[in-house]
Amino acid sequence: MERNTLKMAENIYWVGARDWNRRLFDALITLPKGTSYNAYLVLGEKEKTLIDTVNPGFEKELEEKIRSITKLEEIDYVIMNHAEPDHAGAIPYIMKIAAKAKLVTTVKGAKMAQTYYHIPQERIKPVTDNETLNLGGKTLRFTEAPMLHWPETMFTYVEEDKILFPCDFFGSHLAGGVYSDEVEDLLIHAQRYWGEIMMPFRPMAQKALEKLKDLEIRMIAPSHGPIHRKPEIILNAYKKWANGETRRKVTIAYVSMWNSTEVMVRQMAETLAAEGIELAFHNLASADIGDLAKDLVDSRAIVLGTPTVLGGAHPLAVYATYLFKALRPPTKFAVLLSSYGWGGGAIKQIQETLGQLQIEIVGVLDINGPPTYDNLKQIVEIGKTLAGKVKEKP
Ligand SMILES: Cc1cc2nc3c(=O)[nH]c(=O)nc-3n(C[C@H](O)[C@H](O)[C@H](O)COP(=O)(O)O)c2cc1C
Ligand SMILES: [Fe+2]
Ligand SMILES: [Fe+2]
Repeated sequence: MERNTLKMAENIYWVGARDWNRRLFDALITLPKGTSYNAYLVLGEKEKTLIDTVNPGFEKELEEKIRSITKLEEIDYVIMNHAEPDHAGAIPYIMKIAAKAKLVTTVKGAKMAQTYYHIPQERIKPVTDNETLNLGGKTLRFTEAPMLHWPETMFTYVEEDKILFPCDFFGSHLAGGVYSDEVEDLLIHAQRYWGEIMMPFRPMAQKALEKLKDLEIRMIAPSHGPIHRKPEIILNAYKKWANGETRRKVTIAYVSMWNSTEVMVRQMAETLAAEGIELAFHNLASADIGDLAKDLVDSRAIVLGTPTVLGGAHPLAVYATYLFKALRPPTKFAVLLSSYGWGGGAIKQIQETLGQLQIEIVGVLDINGPPTYDNLKQIVEIGKTLAGKVKEKP
């Protein structure tokens, strides 16, 4: 069957798959717009290469797309920029048909290809930083980018065409779209992706961006979402996010069973809004975790609100606090708000879950039952103090 592919440059093609209906990733991340698994063909005069593959279930589609351009049996190399199954899952299928193909990956990737996909060692060609592979008129240069977001990750760059294939880096979960400059709200989706996948590794992202600094990049072709043919837009956003630049913005994440904590966080939101602070307001009972991650990317502070439930914080607040810690956002300040009925315990648990973070706790208010007028005045004071800190240049 003839399949839709995309010619991105002379002898370079997109042959990926669009997963319109996928709604969950890593059993954690919601995908409101589905996602895509981008794979690319780079055809040299001497040798032919496939860069990354697709998620399990899309093997046939990938095969047909490759066959509409070239003979799959003639592929010489499969580049594995990343070993996660959404890009590497179809490698065994492809390499069975492309029987002479070698798998090109980092030394760590070679180990993973054996563990996850049972690729025999003799079919793997490990590469190191800056190594090149000449396909005849197409020179691939590999850049190791460890922990973005797995240990084995690398980028592939085609020197003649100045196209960077960075796999997950610079990606976004969008099933639709071809070029990112044609996609509305692209940066919001990219920020969401950054928050969920790359934000925990900001120092590694900074290192990778440093390595790319002197590279002339005409196009960035990631493994999820649209291709960037105006790369400076996403590069500038990544620089900001990797450096941990925040805005005059506060993320409020809370849960409330009988409205006490709700009244407290609403007062906090009122105060911050009146002080001109940008707010992201997430009721954890219905919040989208991806949206929360997106807001944490550039928030200068977080307000956590939870009642005490069974001697500790509400389970949704424990989850959100744990996630906050794991995602390592550049948040500078925090406020904790809580209501209890008798013995309390929520605040203690949140503080324990937060552990040793480099974050200034600007205020903690733990009240018995519904907030009184005086409690609300206390919240106004904490809110004003927080607003003052958020407005100071970090
Ligand atoms: C299922 C449940 C379990 C609770 N467990 C505790 C508890 O262990 N210790 C405590 O001090 N209060 C406990 N409470 C009381 C709440 O913390 C208290 O009602 C609080 O004001 C609720 O705040 P909210 O209106 O924001 O939900 C519990 C309440 C519920 C509904
Ligand atoms: Fe990944
Ligand atoms: Fe991925």
